[in-house]
Amino acid sequence: MKKFLLMAVVLMTQTARSEDQMEQGKAVYMQLCVACHQPTGMGLPPVFPPLTQTEYVTGSPERFAAMILKGVMGPITVKGQPYSNVMPPQEAMLTDEKIAAAITYVRGSFGNTSPAVAPSVVAAARAKFVEKKTMWSEAELKAWPEGDAPAAK
Ligand code: HEC
Repeated sequence: MKKFLLMAVVLMTQTARSEDQMEQGKAVYMQLCVACHQPTGMGLPPVFPPLTQTEYVTGSPERFAAMILKGVMGPITVKGQPYSNVMPPQEAMLTDEKIAAAITYVRGSFGNTSPAVAPSVVAAARAKFVEKKTMWSEAELKAWPEGDAPAAK
């Protein structure tokens, strides 16, 4: 059992997009994100922003995870268009595995080609920001260390 767990952890921390993770991520996306960001990932500007090659999608995986966990409070500019809405936090609803899958799905769909994200990244973000009670502001997100850097392999 222990050996199996260890193997699972090793497998899950690899950044290649597995079919399973993409499939699980699509299911989460279609259940949760789709109402706002649409099946195409194009969003509904000027209310819901697109997920197509935005700095938040292709940038820091930790930041992406933190946004899903805690939510985002506008105003925020995405691809030159201002949004002043709210993205609700999902930390109480979604497991690390489901959030990682949804992020991986988004980063591998809608014209995005960024590497997969492991559940351990989400778990670390959850632990790091456990005390944070507010949604992220644009200023906080912009100040993210290495925020727009592509994911480390
Ligand atoms: C209730 C609507 C809603 C849901 C559900 C929602 N979002 Fe969002 N999302 C928003 C809004 C609105 C913003 C822009 C922030 C603002 O205006 O406060 C945003 C911003 C974002 C951003 C950063 C900006 C960008 O476009 O790159 C990402 C990435 C993102 N959402 C991904 C997701 C993912 C993945 C899910 C599902 C797990 C999800 N969202 C669920 C409404 C939503």
